[in-house]
Amino acid sequence: MRRAKISIIGAGNVGATTAHWCAAAELGDVVLLDIPQTEDMPRGKALDLMQASPIVGFDSRIVGTNSYDDTAKSDVVVITAGIPRKPGMSRDDLLGTNAKIVGAVAAEVKRTSPEAIIIVVSNPLDAMVTQAWKASGFPTNRVIGQAGVLDTARYRTFLAMELGVSVEDVSALLMGGHGDTMVPMPSCTSVGGIPITRLLDPKRLDEIVTRTRNGGAEIVGLLKTGSAYYAPAAAVAQMVEAIVRDKKRLIPCAAYCDKQYSVGGYFVGVPVVLGKEGVERVVEIELTAQEKADFQKSVEAVKELVAAMQKISA
Ligand code: NAI
Ligand code: 2OP
Repeated sequence: MRRAKISIIGAGNVGATTAHWCAAAELGDVVLLDIPQTEDMPRGKALDLMQASPIVGFDSRIVGTNSYDDTAKSDVVVITAGIPRKPGMSRDDLLGTNAKIVGAVAAEVKRTSPEAIIIVVSNPLDAMVTQAWKASGFPTNRVIGQAGVLDTARYRTFLAMELGVSVEDVSALLMGGHGDTMVPMPSCTSVGGIPITRLLDPKRLDEIVTRTRNGGAEIVGLLKTGSAYYAPAAAVAQMVEAIVRDKKRLIPCAAYCDKQYSVGGYFVGVPVVLGKEGVERVVEIELTAQEKADFQKSVEAVKELVAAMQKISA
């Protein structure tokens, strides 16, 4: 049986850690690509990871490269190329630089892996996924942004810490853009089947929602030299697994929505079924009045971001 081919563009913190999670779970063979200026760095990281294989016990091959030819005919391409945030920077401060990088990367993906499914990670996420879609010309089901799995994982972690229970028992959903307007959904949050509103008072839940919204900035403030990468990479690996194993996972991703949730043609975080075709469907649920208002606000923020990117690129 042919193994899946997973190419990761950008062999920095998120890229290399994604390679680690994907190889350890034997999701396929991994190609780790970075710009020529990084010289042998991707090859060094790939070889280091390969040398972990006898210890961890995986048979995935990992190749490091500076050439897109080595990524040819990938099944999944993960785009992490770009610059990360430093303290005091918002995700949106990365807009101009990363739009150029992601546009160029997506054009190379189109040339070398025209049938691939693209997972975008670079920030500001909701604009970069739009950029990758436009530059690749791929159908919308094959271009997806990673944000919701990470944001939901942060929310689940904080809830488990608060309640002193296993994270496995915390089930939750977050919608909207990957920014300060993301929308945690208390109506879709439960612990061991018990609605969260019966376990936590509204004030404490609000504090946890706020911490979740600031989850990325909290890590940037602690690391000081970059942004989070272990949890983001684990989130990407979960999406890769859903695709290469055709798992039909129902998870939040930045997916193209037109009529869905009345978004009107933007990529925004919504629950989707993720399988071998990429986004196989967007799952529409009835939102409460508050959730609807919060989601609308988040969609407006995504629209402004995309408009700002278009202005810079014009
Ligand atoms: P990093 O600086 O460690 O790695 C980025 C890598 O991209 C570098 O090795 C750089 O040489 C490479 N690169 C730059 N231009 C390139 C090009 N044209 N082609 C190929 N590679 C190129 O940064 P890190 O921490 O890995 O973050 C990467 C991106 O992911 C950032 O934009 C960051 O904000 C974003 N991010 C998004 C998350 C999300 O949830 N969507 C979570 C965490 C990070
Ligand atoms: C995060 O949420 C920086 O988007 C990245 O950690």
